[in-house]
Amino acid sequence: MEAERLVGPVQQEDDRNYEVSLRPRTFAEYIGQERVKEVLQIFVQAALKRHEALDHVLLYGPPGLGKTTLAHILAAEMGVNIRMTSGPAIERQGDLVAILTNLQPSDILFVDEIHRLNRTVEEVLYPAMEDYAVDIILGKGPGARSIRLDLPPFTLIGATTRAGMLTSPLRDRFGVIERLEFYTPEELAAVVVRSAKVLNVKIDAGGVTEVARRARGTPRIANRLLRRVRDYAEVKADGRITAEVAKQALLLFGIDEYGLDKVDRRILRTLITTYSGGPVGVDTLAAATSEEVGTIEDVYEPFMMQLGLLQRTPRGRVATEQAYRYLNVPYPGKPAHEQGILFNND
Ligand code: ADE
Repeated sequence: MEAERLVGPVQQEDDRNYEVSLRPRTFAEYIGQERVKEVLQIFVQAALKRHEALDHVLLYGPPGLGKTTLAHILAAEMGVNIRMTSGPAIERQGDLVAILTNLQPSDILFVDEIHRLNRTVEEVLYPAMEDYAVDIILGKGPGARSIRLDLPPFTLIGATTRAGMLTSPLRDRFGVIERLEFYTPEELAAVVVRSAKVLNVKIDAGGVTEVARRARGTPRIANRLLRRVRDYAEVKADGRITAEVAKQALLLFGIDEYGLDKVDRRILRTLITTYSGGPVGVDTLAAATSEEVGTIEDVYEPFMMQLGLLQRTPRGRVATEQAYRYLNVPYPGKPAHEQGILFNND
């Protein structure tokens, strides 16, 4: 869903392939999330030392920050297989039992969007995580029997953009719960330099800074912008990405110097002009902007909140004074002459 912001379906497929090839494969290659990396490295070393499976890990945070990448790295560092699936892909208990009973000792099962598992499927996970066993019910009614199947010791890695939507019995069964944070501009710059090397893209320091600071703290976006800006540089310049080339390209793509795009601005403008700055419920905001509630919550809001443009309150979304300035709209809280205009854009 997020990839649709800049590109069409064919480009998205291409992006996914690139994303895989750009993915760091070891902790040493992985830039950023230093604390999480350190914690995970300790657990890996301890598990290896004891010849045990790694404890179950829950990674949460906005999309594109490297949850899947970290799961792959954990598998590589543990020297085990990783089986990938996702909450919505597992429809019935039997689907999950089949996956679990096929795991080898110490294997990793990665469940993306784990908050979207349905409840009956989720119940299979409780004994699986806690006792490495599944209970299978044979027959129906008064004659039904249950048999317990042992599983090999395994590691569940769950990923979610919404830790708050996990039920507590599931959350409580993870030994490690870590939140991934947005990357700093310096970390993103390092990601851009690394990706440019892998992709053989010519980019100077100014170009790196421009791409990195508009990437919304998100490596996946940094890598996507890098490739789009490279296309622009190849067609409109001599193939080299300089600060000027990056600026022109990103202006054309509708991405401003904070990394905000047309959809972000539409959400903010709707909040301010249609709903007087809020508070307004996210469902109303979604309907008024033709975006999905989940996309607004997972993709747009976290970064706008980080920039201090938007607040989530119990009564709904509220635009901050900063948001009014960003859109050049007088803030009703203060007389106009007292208001400096901070940003200048459409
Ligand atoms: N590419 C995407 N995410 C990355 C990261 N965290 N470190 C290095 N390269 C990346």
